Amino acid sequence: KKFLKRLAAGILAAAMAAGLGGCGTATSGKRIIRISHAQAETHPEHLGILAFKQYVEERLGDKYEVQIFPNELLGSAQKAIELTQTGAIDFVVAGTANLETFADVYEIFSMPYLFDSEKVYRSVMEDTDYMQKIYASTDEAGFRVVTWYNAGTRNFYAKTPIRTPDDLKGKKIRVQQSPASVAMVNSFGAAAAPMGFGDVYTAIQQGVIDGAENNELALTNNKHGEVAKYYSYNKHQMVPDMLVGNLKFLNSLSPEEYQVFEDAARYSTEVELAEWDKSIDEAREKAKTDMGVEFIDVDVEAFKEKVLPLHEKMLSENPKIRDLYQHIQDENNKNKGGQ
Ligand code: GCU
Repeated sequence: KKFLKRLAAGILAAAMAAGLGGCGTATSGKRIIRISHAQAETHPEHLGILAFKQYVEERLGDKYEVQIFPNELLGSAQKAIELTQTGAIDFVVAGTANLETFADVYEIFSMPYLFDSEKVYRSVMEDTDYMQKIYASTDEAGFRVVTWYNAGTRNFYAKTPIRTPDDLKGKKIRVQQSPASVAMVNSFGAAAAPMGFGDVYTAIQQGVIDGAENNELALTNNKHGEVAKYYSYNKHQMVPDMLVGNLKFLNSLSPEEYQVFEDAARYSTEVELAEWDKSIDEAREKAKTDMGVEFIDVDVEAFKEKVLPLHEKMLSENPKIRDLYQHIQDENNKNKGGQ
């Protein structure tokens, strides 16, 4: 995989050296659109992005060719965001944790137990009018979110079982490279170890960390189930991934073309959401039967109690998240009792 990564990075560097970078044209005269993401080809996001490619090429195929680079081939999320920022590539799929350093409103998604249910989470994310102003918050950094993808519910998993919050004490748990994620895991009483997604497998295997936190697909698609056999449903976060586009590129499109890209992004989300629901059941089954992972149901309230004070702390430290927090609380309240 490392070799492939170097190869892909080399190809990209060569293309850029030949002057193809931000405004890359292939020999066919088509403008190449490069999209980077961190997942395997079987992941719902890859399938969503394939739908994006197909949608764009069916309508604007004489002018654009979409190339997809999965598996962190062009580098980890942080690196790929930088490439999107400079226009070396055009789009990247990144978790909100990776966007925090560019616009701190995204810290809100690291807040544990923010959404009361998956229903509320989806309805907030699908409220495209409301989300537009959040999406524009990275404009100054040179990129903009164009749509969201479901990345499920994040839970702890480790080499030894986590049944109560006390079991987290003294455990070293990998988190994404974001200050808010570090604070989140530390407030559970564990020791947060920030690192890139691609380094987690080896870190667990070698005992550098005791475990991590993620959705079920990390067990199968990223094979973490081979090295961590206990997955606990404490449900601390529902965190979206974002499809992010280089702003100069988006602004260079004619209104008609822009509409096609916008519709393609929307369509890719529909595909991803449908694939997501299927993929979780499959991943659980595979992790259980093929990998011997034990899924543990825990008392979620006990975990929640431990970290709820973090809400007030985050709100007082970061005024930028207050509006969205209130908006989500309103949605939580509307849905109370209804389920
Ligand atoms: C998930 C998520 C990614 C994120 C990764 C991680 O796979 O979809 O956006 O980067 O977890 O924990 O790093």
